[in-house]
Amino acid sequence: MVNPITVPELSAMKSRGEKIVVLTAYDALFAQVLDDAGVDVILIGDSLGMVIQGHATTLPTSVEDMVYHSKCVAQGARQALLMADLPFMSYPTPERAAENAARLIREGYAQMVKLEGGRNRVDTVRFLVEQSIPVCGHLGLLPQSIHQLGAYQVQAREDRAAQILLEDALLLQEAGASLLVIECVPATLGEEVSSALDIPVIGIGAGPGCDGQVLVLHDMLGLGAGKRPRFVKDFMAEADDIRSAIRAYVQAVREGSFPAEEHSF
Ligand code: KIV
Repeated sequence: MVNPITVPELSAMKSRGEKIVVLTAYDALFAQVLDDAGVDVILIGDSLGMVIQGHATTLPTSVEDMVYHSKCVAQGARQALLMADLPFMSYPTPERAAENAARLIREGYAQMVKLEGGRNRVDTVRFLVEQSIPVCGHLGLLPQSIHQLGAYQVQAREDRAAQILLEDALLLQEAGASLLVIECVPATLGEEVSSALDIPVIGIGAGPGCDGQVLVLHDMLGLGAGKRPRFVKDFMAEADDIRSAIRAYVQAVREGSFPAEEHSF
């Protein structure tokens, strides 16, 4: 008998001080492996454009791609909550966001959608929530803005930028977001945002003080191309097989031993 993870359950986990374990997957088999290992939320990330399709950025990922992979993941998952990314340019207006989110939910069986941005997305988040679509925000390093940013690097190191990020986080929460991902920011800021918000904050390169953690599956299996980012740990290095590596990740996030200081900024 499985107890599927729900949006209210994520919020209850934060209240109980339990860490939330999030990991990406893009197909049915890995979704089942993650589910069996006890991952709470499976993110069908637009990172699939990079790790599955081989593009240099997430920008070529389409709504069609997201629906297809979300549908595949839904075949394998029984317990984890499914969160799918709204890809680049799929949410230029609240109405377009709702149409594309509806496809992710109806055709891809996603239960929550994630979108990148802060105050510029507040109207969209509010509109989606009014249509009963659970939303996860995404702040800090925004991969869909890579051509504006110029490089994948740590964000909000300066006091002013950190203040803006905190304000954005509060605005997204106020607009009705149920979850927030923050990527590549100083650990102090990750902790500050997590304690300022009532909704759970999931970090990736945002230090151990967040309410949960997410990594890209291929990265934590040591399959990333090029130099491994500081915030990634290769869980395959000490595991006999993929299932054990994923179980080790789940345990490390739950007990708070990942991320350690060496994975933080
Ligand atoms: O697309 C993705 O995999 C993501 C994670 C990096 C959080 O958004």
